[in-house]
Amino acid sequence: MRADVSERTLQQAAAELGVECRVNEPLGLHTTMGVGGPAPFLLLPKDAASLAAIVRELASSGARYRVLGAGSNVIVADEGVATPVISCARLAAVMTREGDRVRAGAGVLVPRLTREMATWGLSGMEFAEGIPGSVGGCVRMNAGAGGRWIGDLVKEVVAVTPAGDLVRRVPGPDDFGYRRSFVAREGLIVVAAVFEGRPEDPATIRERMRDSRAYRLATQPLSERSSGCIFKNPEGGSAGEVLDRLGLKGLSVGGAVLSDVHANFIVNRGGTGADVLALAERVKQEALDRAGVALSFEVEIWRDAP
Ligand code: EPU
Repeated sequence: MRADVSERTLQQAAAELGVECRVNEPLGLHTTMGVGGPAPFLLLPKDAASLAAIVRELASSGARYRVLGAGSNVIVADEGVATPVISCARLAAVMTREGDRVRAGAGVLVPRLTREMATWGLSGMEFAEGIPGSVGGCVRMNAGAGGRWIGDLVKEVVAVTPAGDLVRRVPGPDDFGYRRSFVAREGLIVVAAVFEGRPEDPATIRERMRDSRAYRLATQPLSERSSGCIFKNPEGGSAGEVLDRLGLKGLSVGGAVLSDVHANFIVNRGGTGADVLALAERVKQEALDRAGVALSFEVEIWRDAP
């Protein structure tokens, strides 16, 4: 491990805090793409207090670390990473209703939040039906679909700062943008978020959810392993449309294939991290050379120089 934090100290701290710490944990097991090598330590805190304490432990030694949610927007290289990884998967996955608002723990999966809001007759989240991410990850990247963004509904975020302090933040007008948020900008780890819905008939909300699901099923390769869209959309356009026009659907490197259903998805049919990353780079280069479009990654790529 490159980080200064001594292995013993981190493992000891985790044990004292009751935080599970897995050693040399393969990250492919924790991502939807299903590729990638190990992290030296995977820490699985169950509550805000132990998460904050682990972050303080890492911060005190100046150690770098990474944070994983549902792993649906991360591609890990075969060599793995040199940093410890904090997984938010075990953070309290609870939801409580507060009038027209719903407080959801970072570990709640977005489809569950969407369904629960529909049951409570609160609309606004229908667009997110089927987004395979966690509340923490989707707030961090301001996940969106069909011109709607999760950040529009977020009224409060409880998070841990890089110094290990627990804070409560009310987002301002510039705190969310296309696939960006103050959470990522300030290196925060989301513990919980509060979403505001509009009171509406649950049957009407469910109908819009069905439409979102049908659109996604018809236009995205949901039955295969992927990380969702690989590239951000270029200003005023769609990366998928650009790649499709170039005839790149079906292009493959090893077991990684550019989907026939949506050209901005790489599907993993038994490939390695190297296959996926080589295909992504190849496609990016083609878009630049042949369409003059400079694409940037929407997914996070986790790779450390050995
Ligand atoms: N298109 C093609 N060929 C393709 C893919 C798309 O011609 O292979 C065309 C479509 O026909 C449509 C246009 O491109 O006219 C836009 O396509 P789509 O509605 O699928 O939306 P997108 O811009 O490609 C965005 C988000 C998705 C989100 C969808 C649905 C980004 C990078 N992607 O895709 O988010 O689900 O809208 O609203 O912003 C993700 O973030 O992982 C993701 C999948």
